[in-house]
Amino acid sequence: MENDPIGVIDSGLGGISILKEVRKLLPFERYLYYGDSLHNPYGTKSQEEVWNYVDEIVTFLMAQHCKLIIIACNTATMLTIARLRKKYPNFLFIGTEPAIKVAHDFFQTQRVLVLATPNTMESERFLWLKKEYSLTKAIFLPCAFLADAIEQDDSLKVSLLLHKYLYPYRGKIDVVVLGCTHYPFVKEEIVRELGTVSFIDSGVGIAKRTKYLLEQNHLLTSEKIGGVMFYNSAPTFSKKRYHELLDN
Ligand code: DGL
Repeated sequence: MENDPIGVIDSGLGGISILKEVRKLLPFERYLYYGDSLHNPYGTKSQEEVWNYVDEIVTFLMAQHCKLIIIACNTATMLTIARLRKKYPNFLFIGTEPAIKVAHDFFQTQRVLVLATPNTMESERFLWLKKEYSLTKAIFLPCAFLADAIEQDDSLKVSLLLHKYLYPYRGKIDVVVLGCTHYPFVKEEIVRELGTVSFIDSGVGIAKRTKYLLEQNHLLTSEKIGGVMFYNSAPTFSKKRYHELLDN
């Protein structure tokens, strides 16, 4: 059991930003990464649609004997994690959510900009986080279509969208919360629009949580091999690009 793989799910390549951090901390684990590029983006789909996609991937990863599954997607976490935990009460799931608590605990006096998909920002869980960890100087900005432009590697569309969303805040922000796992891949472009800022994402927190849960459940691998296997729902996806994003 302890030498079984860890499953990682995203609507595409975004979860690689999480996997990178988890792999740094747990290099000898084996990872099965499932990108649902065929159904990307999740950020503008209905809750029921996202549930159906995620539950199907979970079923697939469980059939591959995953010992733990990381939902490396804020949107999917917001829309499905409670239901997953209810449906599979004995299984280990880790969800990803915008690091609003970190902003609240460490950057309260700074000007914070929170970026996420529309679905994440409208979810009950997000509204709860916002209330629970209130930020006095925060702006919450839903970025429709940004994750799919990143997914499609459409740099012109990424630049145009970021310009549209961020230009009004140029020079007015200290800290950016990356509330979508696709966004860490466009940090440079964000800085180009906003000027110098600090970033908060969820990768390191998820990595620590994964290690903790494996330790607690005596599930740390005893092998010294490691490795990542990519699966994707879109037959045309580029395995090469996924490996490049993981290794660079
Ligand atoms: N990577 C995903 C997230 O963290 C969502 C992208 C999408 O499919 O809209 O929210």
